[in-house]
Amino acid sequence: MAEIISGKEVSAAKREELKKRVKALSDKGISTGLAVIIVGNNSASRVYVNNKKKGCEEIGVTSFEFALPEETTGEELISLINKLNNDSRVDGILCQLPLPKHIDEKAVLNSIDPAKDVDAFHPVNVGHIMIGDFTFLPCTPAGIMEMFRYYNIPVSGKKCVVVGRSNIVGKPMAMLLLKENGTVEICHSRTASLKEECLTADILVAAVGIPKFVTADMVKDGAVVIDVGINRDEDGKLCGDVDFAAVEPKASYITPVPGGVGPMTITMLLENTVRSAESKELLK
Ligand code: GUN
Repeated sequence: MAEIISGKEVSAAKREELKKRVKALSDKGISTGLAVIIVGNNSASRVYVNNKKKGCEEIGVTSFEFALPEETTGEELISLINKLNNDSRVDGILCQLPLPKHIDEKAVLNSIDPAKDVDAFHPVNVGHIMIGDFTFLPCTPAGIMEMFRYYNIPVSGKKCVVVGRSNIVGKPMAMLLLKENGTVEICHSRTASLKEECLTADILVAAVGIPKFVTADMVKDGAVVIDVGINRDEDGKLCGDVDFAAVEPKASYITPVPGGVGPMTITMLLENTVRSAESKELLK
């Protein structure tokens, strides 16, 4: 029987801390603001953006929403970002992905001032992550590290296997685990003998985007299993990348879906936004 890691609980504790930090800034006359940009009518993106705005409200951060039509051009979007880069009320700029196909996503992300890049997607911040010098944290991986701290799960010296090599989760996850002295392996769709690799993991992070991809025969007894997936199963029910019912009895700790990693991502975005506002304090 595994202990269930509650992202809701860790997230609530972290948001209490953030609320105090925002209040401390406000007491010194320093505002905290997040600009949230959404382009088009992607319904999943709308849910994420609403949750990000709700998170801001909860901890006292002002959110500025920019909902742009599907036909917005890349130039128009970059022009808005340039304005926000120079707006002192805005500490963080978040452009919800995916963008409509006609917009060059890389050019848009590169136009965000690295000092306001609270998603940590700009190459400058990716470089910071690579050398272990964190201005902004990669939100989903940082949320997972926060869960390890909260539950006193050691990483140092552990064999960590990350399944998935995305720029948003897999690669930065590997960097954070490495910084905490984990022995890290990244697996992906071309990995030979994936099952055998996964079986070596003390900590297994699944970030592949395939429903119930990680099955019980891929998990070592007593492993810590982290599920980053948000998928729908054959019945349309929300599920992760891990076959939870089968894997849970073998694991020592496991994250559920929903209520695991998901709530942490937005909380760490808020952490980055508050950090950005706190950096203004140093300039005062
Ligand atoms: N779309 C899916 N995940 C994310 C995220 O973490 N940030 C942004 N901006 N868009 C996303």
